[in-house]
Amino acid sequence: MDFGEFKRRMLAHFRLDLHSYKETQLKRRIDSFLLRKKINGYADLFKLIAADRQAYEMFLDHLTINVSEFFRDPHRWQDLEKIILPGLLQGRGTLKIWSAACSIGAEPYSLGILLDELSPGRAHRIDATDIDKNILEKARAGRYNQDVVRNVSRERMARYFTVSDGSYLINENIKRKVSFSRHDLLTDDYPQGYDLIVCRNVTIYFTREAQDKINQSFSRSLQPGGLLFIGGSEMIFNHQELGLEKILPCFYRKK
Ligand SMILES: C[S@@+](CC[C@H](N)C(=O)[O-])C[C@H]1O[C@@H](n2cnc3c(N)ncnc32)[C@H](O)[C@@H]1O
Repeated sequence: MDFGEFKRRMLAHFRLDLHSYKETQLKRRIDSFLLRKKINGYADLFKLIAADRQAYEMFLDHLTINVSEFFRDPHRWQDLEKIILPGLLQGRGTLKIWSAACSIGAEPYSLGILLDELSPGRAHRIDATDIDKNILEKARAGRYNQDVVRNVSRERMARYFTVSDGSYLINENIKRKVSFSRHDLLTDDYPQGYDLIVCRNVTIYFTREAQDKINQSFSRSLQPGGLLFIGGSEMIFNHQELGLEKILPCFYRKK
């Protein structure tokens, strides 16, 4: 089985759209999985993961890059804290927020911390999704090492974390604010009605066509005046076509 046929079989069997990932990097990761697990080619890999759900989840976990941290790109998060969220909170009672491709949960929990500080006691909704089930389990556990919390201030650390055995555990009052579920940005329907969508550091792995489709779907999922917060190395070239205006680096507003 060649790589093209493997991708076609994956789409038909799992609805996993590997065609939308940039090919060189994707192939490198899959080939390293074959080597590590001593699997003899794409046909054997497909047979294995089609027969064993756990093997499929392990494969998916290997495929995805899960690096994340609290308040990743601190300057952009300062803009979110000082400009974007106060603006949204002023116009709307409670906010509906989506952290898409949330990985280990550092991103939605960072949102939970900001909302707790800016509007304590208000019942906002934070949906957090990812394609990778294993990473969602880690996100729900909310236990982190020092690298992941390096941008958390001393005050926030004292208020929102418990330190135990060298790990940093996010407190229950923040955990409670976030609902985690599985969602594939390439093949699932998009939920609607968001005031803020945070989707950072994932579309860089996708082809230009897939990026366009995703950004179009995000635009539809936003309320008028809602905001899309993307990663520092990402760019939406055709934002005007999508009804989005760029208001700050990494921030687009739906007209
Ligand atoms: C590098 S992490 C980014 C985490 C976080 N947004 C941040 O910026 O720190 C990329 C995440 O995208 C997820 N991902 C990859 N393909 C996806 C897809 N098709 N749908 C949803 N999530 C996906 C991966 O599982 C991974 O957790």
